[in-house]
Amino acid sequence: MKIKNICCIGAGYVGGPTMSVFALKCPDINFIVVDISEEKINAWNNYDLKKLPVYEPGLKEIIAQTRNKNLFFSTDIDEAIKKSEMIFMSVNTPTKTKGEGKGMAADLRFVESCAKRIGEVSNKNKIVVEKSTLPVRTAEKIKEVLNTHNSDKKIKFEILSNPEFLAEGTAINDLLKPDRVLIGGDNSGSGKEATQLLVELYKKWIPKEKILTTNIWSSELSKLVSNAFLAQRVSSINSISAICEKTGANIEEVSKAVGMDSRIGSKFLTSSIGFGGSCFKKDILNLVYISEYYGLKKVANYWQQVIDINNYQTNRVFDKVCDALNLRSQIKRSICILGWAFKKNTNDSRESASIYLTKQLLEIGVQVNVYDPMVKKNKIFNDIETVFNTHNSDNLETNLKSVNLNVLNSAYAASKNSSAIIICTEWDEFKTLDWTSIYDSMEKPSWVFDGRNIIDDYKLLKLGFKTFKIGKS
Ligand code: UDX
Ligand code: ADP
Repeated sequence: MKIKNICCIGAGYVGGPTMSVFALKCPDINFIVVDISEEKINAWNNYDLKKLPVYEPGLKEIIAQTRNKNLFFSTDIDEAIKKSEMIFMSVNTPTKTKGEGKGMAADLRFVESCAKRIGEVSNKNKIVVEKSTLPVRTAEKIKEVLNTHNSDKKIKFEILSNPEFLAEGTAINDLLKPDRVLIGGDNSGSGKEATQLLVELYKKWIPKEKILTTNIWSSELSKLVSNAFLAQRVSSINSISAICEKTGANIEEVSKAVGMDSRIGSKFLTSSIGFGGSCFKKDILNLVYISEYYGLKKVANYWQQVIDINNYQTNRVFDKVCDALNLRSQIKRSICILGWAFKKNTNDSRESASIYLTKQLLEIGVQVNVYDPMVKKNKIFNDIETVFNTHNSDNLETNLKSVNLNVLNSAYAASKNSSAIIICTEWDEFKTLDWTSIYDSMEKPSWVFDGRNIIDDYKLLKLGFKTFKIGKS
């Protein structure tokens, strides 16, 4: 088989950037990224590159070079499927909100509907590549759906697992220079051939020793385990931050000392208000679910703790704010949230700690003023509506809480007349704010709760602020 056209179903945070880099590195192949959302496809096709639906440093430059040359964005899913020899599935796989495995297992509705469509419209052999994060043994399920829905039984589908390891905010660099590329495939002759075709594509820019081929189940599990290990490191250091606050040890000093042990390594040891993002929680929940499914209760409990500590960390910050400002005593207060994205350099806010913290503040009647440099106002309101609707059944309640939420267009406007600022995202621009004028515009006493430890504490104290830093007494 010769690969001339590749289609990617799902034009989100993974599909868009991944196909852009593929298009840049494989100029002889056409890449068609399709999505059911017309709005999203229109945004990817917007001539104003600042209006792309995904913000990633370096992305718009690549789009400028490739779009409408060998990279196309379209809503014509069937046409793209028919044309392509290889199809990437890059659709969302949220945690189930109902049915068996509710709150734990991955919701495979989107993956299944995608597979069904591929089965129905395919008129030649295809290689189907799982890109979305999926539970172990999903490939089996995909194959079953593809074959059930294909009327021409002569058509063969090869399934590969090629999990994405990009992190948002550094996606382009991660795609250009990944630590490894993982391709899981069947051990049959046609499975090996399909694997080799994908290996050849990656070899155009990635050294072959970094391209790892495994069986399909190892590949699927490795993705979950990688994310679980990374999240575990964050929860580990966050658990230690609570000890630091009690004992007088300093989390940054502890983290540095521990990370200098080359067996441990220094990355992912930055204490924070809690990890967010679309993957960590979802993947650990998947791991917990699989462990329980196979009767491995102790293993399930072990990984569940990583999520529990993460919730504990965000709740701990909420409690500190309540105690410092005496918030539970009915006194009306305004609090400013700086940063809504789950980390800097992305406009993604999925599972951001700021959402959960804001929900708790709104619940006790606090006026919350939010500023984020990249997350749009309607997204912030949407996140809050969703979190109230998911966790509370009373819709009326939701509307009442939203009244106390304001989204402003600068850190200065959001902090004005507030009693406290809570830094939830480590955006660089927060480091260079004019803290003197912020102090002057705030209620007194003025608090800064630095949930990312990015502002010089000494400077803030000198200006008159009261401060709280994670892991510092
Ligand atoms: C993660 C994985 O890193 C990536 O390989 C996978 O493909 C997708 O999931 P992502 O969620 O985009 O990527 O971001 P990541 O950099 O891993 O950060 C996740 C969360 O952990 C963020 O909220 C971040 O602020 C937090 N974090 C990270 C910390 O709190 N401390 C750290 O030391 C590192
Ligand atoms: P990720 O972070 O995994 O990329 P996103 O939610 O950003 O997740 O993107 C997933 C995309 O997949 C969304 O834009 C959604 O509209 C799209 N999608 C979901 N199901 C289908 C489908 N059956 N066909 C085409 N696109 C789909």
